[in-house]
Amino acid sequence: MMNLSPATPGLTANSPLFRTKSFINGAWVDALSAETFTVTNPATGEVIASVADLGQADVRAAIEAAHVAWPAYRDLTAKERSALLRNWFTLILEHKEELATLMTMECGKVLTETRGEVAYGASFIEWFAEEAKRIYGDVIPANTNDKRLVVIKQSIGVVAAITPWNFPLAMITRKAGPALAAGSPVIVKPPSETPLTALAMTYLAEKAGFPPGVFNTVTTSKNAEIGLELCENSKVRKLSFTGSTATGKLLMRQCAANLTKVSLELGGNAPFIVFDDADIDAAVTGAMASKFRNSGQTCVCVNRLYVHDAVYDEFVRKFSDAVTALRVGNGLDSTNQQGPLINEKGLSKVKHHLEDALAKGARIRVGGQALDGLFFQPTVLIDVTDEMIITREEVFGPVAPIARFTSEAEVIQLANNTPYGLAAYFYSKDVSRCWRVAEALEYGMVGINEGLVSTEVAPFGGIKESGMGREGSKYGMDYYLEIKYLCFGGIS
Ligand code: SIN
Repeated sequence: MMNLSPATPGLTANSPLFRTKSFINGAWVDALSAETFTVTNPATGEVIASVADLGQADVRAAIEAAHVAWPAYRDLTAKERSALLRNWFTLILEHKEELATLMTMECGKVLTETRGEVAYGASFIEWFAEEAKRIYGDVIPANTNDKRLVVIKQSIGVVAAITPWNFPLAMITRKAGPALAAGSPVIVKPPSETPLTALAMTYLAEKAGFPPGVFNTVTTSKNAEIGLELCENSKVRKLSFTGSTATGKLLMRQCAANLTKVSLELGGNAPFIVFDDADIDAAVTGAMASKFRNSGQTCVCVNRLYVHDAVYDEFVRKFSDAVTALRVGNGLDSTNQQGPLINEKGLSKVKHHLEDALAKGARIRVGGQALDGLFFQPTVLIDVTDEMIITREEVFGPVAPIARFTSEAEVIQLANNTPYGLAAYFYSKDVSRCWRVAEALEYGMVGINEGLVSTEVAPFGGIKESGMGREGSKYGMDYYLEIKYLCFGGIS
């Protein structure tokens, strides 16, 4: 079904990476019901695949297989688990072009970015292959002479990873990497928009040599039914989710049934502040990189810009010029810089936010029009105020709303006036201000004179309604481990 023209880069029609069945207990399987769902290219509207549409019974089988595989897998030495991850890392990089092309076809993200995502996603596997060998415990000075107190860290058990369409590859590796390193089998549930990248990654995990049952991928369009099973099945000991705050809250409520541990990476409402002492050119570069990454469809994308009155005109002019120059089109043409929105719902949301802002007094400086299909012009809105929906909710699209401010205290208050707390950004050349503002912003991640903060070596995650837990970095492994305290008595 996949329609590959000779010009399609990196992927051939009979590539072994192109898979449409799910993977359970080391076997590629159809749904017990034999049902399938279709995957559409958001840039063209073409159906590119029919994929197995699993139900509750299929997912139970995956959980059972993972549970059975757990003891032998956790008993591998750290070095053995590390070697498996390292194999997977190497294979991912070897298939960079195929993975990038597949991703562009199913999520619309332009090739330059999907190539970047393969490298970014692989970096988590490399990082956790290294961290696998450093799951250290502690020896605690005892409270009496006849005791010895020791802390060990052990694998948490079966992990369910529910991943989003906006990073079809990297959100799998950021969750599966630490789980597999810690000795936990995983069940990946990719979104119905982008199962093909997940299945290609699963194929590479199979080739890397993970034992049957250790890596499972369940494709489905029945999100509510499968989400409930992953939350309420007592053999799942940890659920990691990236997606909307509303769904995160629902999953957390469902996980309460067995007190299943959760990591949640949820929505944001990132402010981007340009102070009057900022390097304006650098601020424009940072704002472009953050706002228009994946056409505005990341949780850490700039959602609202606050620019000091004294530099407002200069910033708006330079930023608008840069936005006007963006090339929009099918991401498979590597000269394009902005792809489509993921679906009609995403496009409608952008239009709704824009209409609301215009009705409340905002003006369009650049763009503002829907293009063919799911494409939308990169847009700059000025005269924006905090009464507009676009400054209060995640727009998840290529629209940059700009507001003015006059004092540091005022802009900190505006930036923090949201239930979300994922990422924030600001530009200033004053070192004291940099510390002051960084400490005052109520966010899990702050970019200071920097628009891109994501890396495998630093902790990614939010506070308030943006979630809980951290992914990547030395902290990322802790969420997949249980701490056990051993008290040795009778020592003479
Ligand atoms: C996300 O949008 O969910 C992840 C973004 C990132 O890892 O930079």
